[in-house]
Amino acid sequence: CGIVGYIGKREAYPVVLEGLKRLEYRGYDSAGIAIYDGNDIKLCKTKGKVSDLELKAKNDIITSGNLAIGHTRWATHGVPNDVNSHPHYSNSGNLVIIHNGIIENYESIKQELIKRGYIFHSDTDTEVLVNLIEDVQRNQNLKLGKAVQIALNQVVGAYAIAVFDKNKPNEIVVAKLGSPLAIGVGEDEFFIASDASPFLEYTKKAIYLEDEELAVIRLGKDIKIRKIISDELTDTYIQELQINLEQIVKGGYDHFMLKEIYEQPNAIKDTYRGRLLVKEGIIRMAGIDDNLDRFLNANRIIVVACGTSWHAGLVSEYIFEDLARIPVEVEYASEFRYRNPVITNKDVVIAISQSGETADTLAAIKLAKQHGAFVFGVCNVVGSSIAREADAGAYTHAGPEIGVASTKAFTTQITVLTLIALKLAKANGNISTSNYQYHLQELELIPEKVKKALESDKHILEVAKMYKDAKNCLYLGRGYNFPVALEGALKLKEISYIHAEGYPAAEMKHGPIALIDEQMPVFVIATKKGHYEKVVSNVQEIKARKGKIIGIVTEGDVDVKNLADHVIEVPDTLEALSPLLTTIPLQLLSYHIAVLLDKNVDQPRNLAKSVTVE
Ligand code: G6P
Repeated sequence: CGIVGYIGKREAYPVVLEGLKRLEYRGYDSAGIAIYDGNDIKLCKTKGKVSDLELKAKNDIITSGNLAIGHTRWATHGVPNDVNSHPHYSNSGNLVIIHNGIIENYESIKQELIKRGYIFHSDTDTEVLVNLIEDVQRNQNLKLGKAVQIALNQVVGAYAIAVFDKNKPNEIVVAKLGSPLAIGVGEDEFFIASDASPFLEYTKKAIYLEDEELAVIRLGKDIKIRKIISDELTDTYIQELQINLEQIVKGGYDHFMLKEIYEQPNAIKDTYRGRLLVKEGIIRMAGIDDNLDRFLNANRIIVVACGTSWHAGLVSEYIFEDLARIPVEVEYASEFRYRNPVITNKDVVIAISQSGETADTLAAIKLAKQHGAFVFGVCNVVGSSIAREADAGAYTHAGPEIGVASTKAFTTQITVLTLIALKLAKANGNISTSNYQYHLQELELIPEKVKKALESDKHILEVAKMYKDAKNCLYLGRGYNFPVALEGALKLKEISYIHAEGYPAAEMKHGPIALIDEQMPVFVIATKKGHYEKVVSNVQEIKARKGKIIGIVTEGDVDVKNLADHVIEVPDTLEALSPLLTTIPLQLLSYHIAVLLDKNVDQPRNLAKSVTVE
């Protein structure tokens, strides 16, 4: 979910509404706004997107005011409908709240409150929280900040909340545990949001709350931040933000996803800029240099991640083992954290996350730290929770990724992980100087080759037209390109809703081969370097069963071309770097199929870009 708030001299409604639009990547099942109009709280909320809210607000006559909070939701408790949408009132109507996260013990608190006469209109855990705050405030005659603090000490779960009281319209109380919360500090005005994008045009000064912190934001006063449990006052650290507004608008493309696919040559360059010094034969990464011993003495590397980032982790397993000869395990963060894993202080955990906010990944690294492991973060969002929680890290520098289906985050994650693997391989002597140098040179050429791969876009659109009505698709790859097959299938599922499976090409014969008939498109990654002949044999097996074959091949390929129904060419490169190129046509293919099927490419149903609940 995304939360936004404003208090100051401006009209609050447009600030919050525009802010919600920027945060829609965090969820878009429903949306709502509450405004204090100088007398009372006016509330408007609806199932659907922020644009639906905008329409409804016109009819509901949202009045003007200088204090407002808004929410865009990704449903956890209760179906997405008008009633379950945020903001939520307390029973008296004095308090109003927005919440991103989950209150796990809400049911028992709800039963207690019902006994005390509270009535609930929604199925949400959030309505329970706002009434708990009201109950504490009333019974103990407390200021809002104190009441929120006491209430939060009774809840188990995760939250970023903002709440205000219509009887004290000069303040908003916010608190955070697990879900992100930024405060924008302007001249006599404050903004709150799940990330800084809603307030970038107003102020570059931001405070990021830490977990278990509560802030009382009062007009005309400095912000006071306290620890929720210990009640200690903490220092208020105001950061100067570096990010621009232009970086988060579509820039002439129909969709963010397409823009982000096309940004990959530059994004990859930005990722290695200043790090990859080919002439000198050096890879400069402070996060690795400063902790080289931890890496070189590690028993193994454990990669934890979710979704597309997990696929980048799988690619890195091949690179780390192949080049640096370090054993690697790649784990879904959600599985890792709950299966009592064996972790020691000789382990290095690499956490990969575009957003840096994924709840499962964050929890996994906290667990790893408790067991003494060294945690290295690979994140895109600067200052994100995972970036801050990790012992050290490297940013991908891909720029903001807005499309829910991850594209440039994936290729830049692979770029960072490749740099790390090469650096470690050099440091532990497992790569020859010439091979190392060869990889460096080739890596530097990747952005140009990605550009070349993007030139097949028109041809890919034609292929997309032919297969857009498929009900099922299979994606096959071997070695370094097995994870690319998984990622290709995930991209198609996410945005076109066509069922797709990724499989190691050779494993096909142990099951999926039964699915193959004339109706089944099979996308096979068959680049020249890396088990080419073996993949050609797998292609023969598909051909024998009349499957439709679409090969992702190296420029100038002959063998697969002779067998396949279509081929899409990518430039030649080293095997270890090939995922950076083979991924590109699969991204474009999914994109075109989704557009042809008239699906919402940037905001596919049921998904969210940043999943801050477990
Ligand atoms: C969500 C997104 C995916 C993403 C995954 C992990 O499910 O829809 O695109 O890969 O979260 O996100 P992270 O920000 O940790 O990379």
